[in-house]
Amino acid sequence: MERLRIQGGNRLTGEVSVAGAKNSVLKLMAAALLAQGRTVLYDVPDILDVRFMGDLLERLGCSLTPEGGGKLTIDVPETIHHEADYDLVRRLRASITVLGPLLARCHRAKVALPGGDSIGSRGLGMHVTGLAQMGAEIGIEHGFVVAEAPYGLHGTTILLDFPSVGATENLLLAATLARGTTLIDNAAREPEIVDIAEMLTRMGAKIGGIGTSTLEIEGPADLQSVEHRVVPDRMVAGTWAIGAAVTGGAVTLRNARADHLDVVLDKLARAGASVEAGPDHFTVRMDGRPQAVNIVTLPYPGFPTDLQAMMVALAAVSEGTSMVTENLFDGRFRFVQELARLGADVRTDGHHAVIRGRRMLSGAPVEATDIRAGAGLLLAGLVADGETLVSGVHHLDRGYPNLVGVLQGLGAQVLREPDDMAVG
Ligand code: EPU
Repeated sequence: MERLRIQGGNRLTGEVSVAGAKNSVLKLMAAALLAQGRTVLYDVPDILDVRFMGDLLERLGCSLTPEGGGKLTIDVPETIHHEADYDLVRRLRASITVLGPLLARCHRAKVALPGGDSIGSRGLGMHVTGLAQMGAEIGIEHGFVVAEAPYGLHGTTILLDFPSVGATENLLLAATLARGTTLIDNAAREPEIVDIAEMLTRMGAKIGGIGTSTLEIEGPADLQSVEHRVVPDRMVAGTWAIGAAVTGGAVTLRNARADHLDVVLDKLARAGASVEAGPDHFTVRMDGRPQAVNIVTLPYPGFPTDLQAMMVALAAVSEGTSMVTENLFDGRFRFVQELARLGADVRTDGHHAVIRGRRMLSGAPVEATDIRAGAGLLLAGLVADGETLVSGVHHLDRGYPNLVGVLQGLGAQVLREPDDMAVG
């Protein structure tokens, strides 16, 4: 167990080169299962979750070769195993994304239920119902999703109750090998889903409506493995952009897509930051104290839930009162108790939080309970007076490559050290 020791007070200034998106690469790795052969991914971030997904693919029979510089080669054999055990799945919720590809390729799949986590209960109803509509016999048995489609999956029209990222991905992946046309209506349209659809298209899938809320997939495709560059991580870029605003600094994000962060950059501009954007980079600069802004999290292109904690940290030092509404995950305000330990004035009521900005926060030991909560606490620690210790840094390692190196490169006083207070 390790923690971060942060000496607050330095502005974040400088440049960060952003790697590929965690929430895309994990699904691209699952997509590789759809075709026998060699998939090569570029710009793969060096993060824990990629290692966990790699372990899972190896258990399914694939060979993985990380070649440095963000290149990852995945060799998928002709026959793959169809079972993903709890010991692997529980480490990584995204592993549920193998369900669709396994069912489509092996005509059966047995994937452990990932369970809830610290951001709240996370249902799978839409994954299950959609695959059943495509002809799978599917149910939950002894903690596993068990599915069979002895004659393969078939196309159908699926109307999602909610634009779920994971359900859209699972159904999209399965549909590429299903017979006939699958329509996914009310589909999620996050840039990571566009990235997956683009890789699938290069593999030979016929997908219409990419980037819209209606995806039309014509199957079955004769899929070939391909090479693909992962879309830049908008959550990493967004975290350091908000970090510039929180600390009154100036950060340039390279290999970053401002157009994937429209609402976020608009909010930062309203908070008083200046934003300059080019085609593959942008700079956020904040002079003076930020102004309070309200945010409401929504599916893309709305404000991303994954940047909510960082905006609460910004609100905690802004001038005025901010209101934040969380619509995606019921447990995503749990971290505010920790933020309060740094002196933040935050009150929550259900899925609303009211934050009265303070001029100063004060350093204290706090605990990160998930990756984004950890990032919010980290940004708050950077402006807190004195020393902040952030425990649970392994949560941040799940999605932030070279965390301490990046922070030190931006001028933060941060060290990583053994956590002598860690329990268990
Ligand atoms: N939901 C259901 N039933 C379903 C599917 C979803 O009730 O069948 C509910 C979930 O319980 C949740 C909401 O719908 O309350 C949103 O879930 P969604 O399926 O959209 O999210 P996800 O696929 O589980 C991905 C990202 C999350 C990100 C969300 C929303 C990955 C690996 N995870 O999760 O990222 O917050 O989309 O954008 O792609 C993170 O990176 O920190 C993270 C949690």
